[in-house]
Amino acid sequence: MADGEHTMALDPTATARWAELATRIDAAQATVAVIGLGYVGLPLAMAFARRGFSVLGYDVSEGRIGTLAGGGSYILDVPADTVAAMTEAGRFRATDHPAALREADAIIICVPTPCQRNRQPDLSFIESASRTIAGILRRGQLIILESTTYPGTTQELMVPILESGGLQVGSDVQVAFSPERIDPGNPQFGVENTPKVVGGLGETAGALAAALYGAVIERVVRVDSPREAEMAKLIENTFRHVNIALANELALIANKMGINIWQAIDAASSKPFGFMPFYPGPGVGGHCIPIDPHYLSWKAREMGSDASFIELAERINHGMPEHVVRMVVDAVNETGKSIRGAQVLLLGLAYKKDIDDLRESPALPIFDELAKHGAVVSFSDPFVPTYRGRASVPLTPDTLAAADCVVLITDHTGYDKALILAHARRIVDTRNAFKTADPKVVRL
Ligand SMILES: NC(=O)c1ccc[n+]([C@@H]2O[C@H](COP(=O)([O-])OP(=O)(O)OC[C@H]3O[C@@H](n4cnc5c(N)ncnc54)[C@H](O)[C@@H]3O)[C@@H](O)[C@H]2O)c1
Repeated sequence: MADGEHTMALDPTATARWAELATRIDAAQATVAVIGLGYVGLPLAMAFARRGFSVLGYDVSEGRIGTLAGGGSYILDVPADTVAAMTEAGRFRATDHPAALREADAIIICVPTPCQRNRQPDLSFIESASRTIAGILRRGQLIILESTTYPGTTQELMVPILESGGLQVGSDVQVAFSPERIDPGNPQFGVENTPKVVGGLGETAGALAAALYGAVIERVVRVDSPREAEMAKLIENTFRHVNIALANELALIANKMGINIWQAIDAASSKPFGFMPFYPGPGVGGHCIPIDPHYLSWKAREMGSDASFIELAERINHGMPEHVVRMVVDAVNETGKSIRGAQVLLLGLAYKKDIDDLRESPALPIFDELAKHGAVVSFSDPFVPTYRGRASVPLTPDTLAAADCVVLITDHTGYDKALILAHARRIVDTRNAFKTADPKVVRL
């Protein structure tokens, strides 16, 4: 279906319907439903509730709905107090009954978009959420997709499912795409002060979605259609993926040349224009950087185009955990020991600092590979109490001194660097956390 079909002149009843919804959005009197209450959906639901909207949170996980209904939370950035306060104020209700979604004026979809084993996009969650909506859809609803996906998904995949019951997108219901940019654990930027990109299927959809987000978010950036908004998100994460890969490749080169790459990058950063620093690390993790570029390369291939940068970046970033394992093997060797039977303590399993998310974390292949080499692997992570039945080890002079090698993978703020430096026998530092010339520290 072409965009034009969604910009058709509206009949007077439809015009009045959308004007009435716009008025209710402006007065924060619209009911907003969020489908998928994870790292993205729950903070968003709370933002609308705090602003005074009546919010329905819908999820297929009974456990999550139970926790929320009891005034609890499972997302670090959303305190249980907030959920409890919003629930008590009657502004937030968690449900796993799809029928409740019929009450909503606007429905925002925040379900996962992972990759299948062969790195193909897995859109099954978007499909099932769309089918859930199709089952309750009524005239006058605004449906917004937030899940990261390849350009064309909103129009080619979601719209046909929504229209399967006979209602027409563009006249009976409005549809938009607005990518989520939340950065879990970021103390500076949250839902309200991170600009929101919005692309509607037609002018009315774009204006309504922009008004809705504008009620809770400081700045809304409108684009012509869902495709530009879908692409914007993939550009952002592909940009990071490729630049991190470049930093990783430069680190490997610098290592061979005996150059401190961290100092060199910081020196390059003193240029006030035309440069933006990216840093090497043990690999990329999380639900975004390692996944999203594959959505773009998959779609590019389907259209007969290459995505060479993305594939190269993937190869380099994917190889970093193996490089870290080699560093650990060498570091242990230098102490005159073999990696088989060596005690290796990993600091940080989460994919980035100060969060508890293990998805795609490079720490996991490092853990597995070291164990395969015969090392006795333990870990310490204040955000991850257990992994594969093993408990996080407390960081004490004894646990540090007991390890043949301590590997800093994730630089959580709470780590006592002085304690680690004082008691560890050998440190492999993948984040330049220990800015020291101490020979027991081997820096990536
Ligand atoms: N996590 C991030 O930092 C981040 C940042 C920006 C964008 N995104 C994107 O946002 C989307 C959501 O990611 P997330 O990290 O919040 O995922 P998540 O796994 O934390 O949460 C997703 C939630 O959706 C629920 N769900 C799954 N299928 C459902 C269905 N059919 N109906 C209702 N609920 C359903 C799950 O039970 C879960 O609670 C993804 O597309 C992701 O790429 C994530």
